[in-house]
Amino acid sequence: MKRIVILISGRGSNMEAIVKACAAEQWPARIAAVVSNRPEAKGLEFAAAHGIATAVVDHKQHTSREAFDAELARAIDAHAPDLVVLAGFMRILTPGFVEHYAGRMINIHPSLLPAFPGLHTHRRAIELGCKLAGATVHYVTAELDHGPIVVQAAVPVLPGDAEATLSQRVLVQEHRIYPMAVRWIVSDALDSRDGVIVHRGGEAQLVVG
Ligand code: GRF
Repeated sequence: MKRIVILISGRGSNMEAIVKACAAEQWPARIAAVVSNRPEAKGLEFAAAHGIATAVVDHKQHTSREAFDAELARAIDAHAPDLVVLAGFMRILTPGFVEHYAGRMINIHPSLLPAFPGLHTHRRAIELGCKLAGATVHYVTAELDHGPIVVQAAVPVLPGDAEATLSQRVLVQEHRIYPMAVRWIVSDALDSRDGVIVHRGGEAQLVVG
């Protein structure tokens, strides 16, 4: 049984999708804990209601990023995770923290990386007239919103789209690809070839929504 720790900052809809898929598809894994940097994160309620251990490490209670990350790592490591899943976790992580979880920490970012790292991805895509948008699940490296790509989902940007409509269209696909990526990892279905993540069974690492 692989042990998964999920980090959230807010709503936690991606965490919810992963928790539900883990149970429904009987993964060889369990969600050991959900950790938030915000005490008011909505997702904590869902996790607790599903019998999952929760913890809060409030970044506002720490004077430096290093101190926060050290406390966060303690909270995570108390559950001895095989995989750490960042699901709408809105903190920039220190290089030491990233190194500690190298090869066992993934993130979902709401753009087709390497396009649009950082914030306001949908607004920027609309402003630039992009016709395609999407989301990416990737391993976390020291560079923000970078690292080997596990799976991507692509959706059209439609005429008249606003940030809210595009982000909703992308979010539907996030809820498909994030559980898929976690399932592949906990069932050892992925290989790294020259730094590129490949599904051993040839499953498509692209979803077109
Ligand atoms: C998602 O769009 C994710 O890609 C981004 O923040 C949002 C989190 O949503 N990083 P939720 O908390 O999973 O509902």
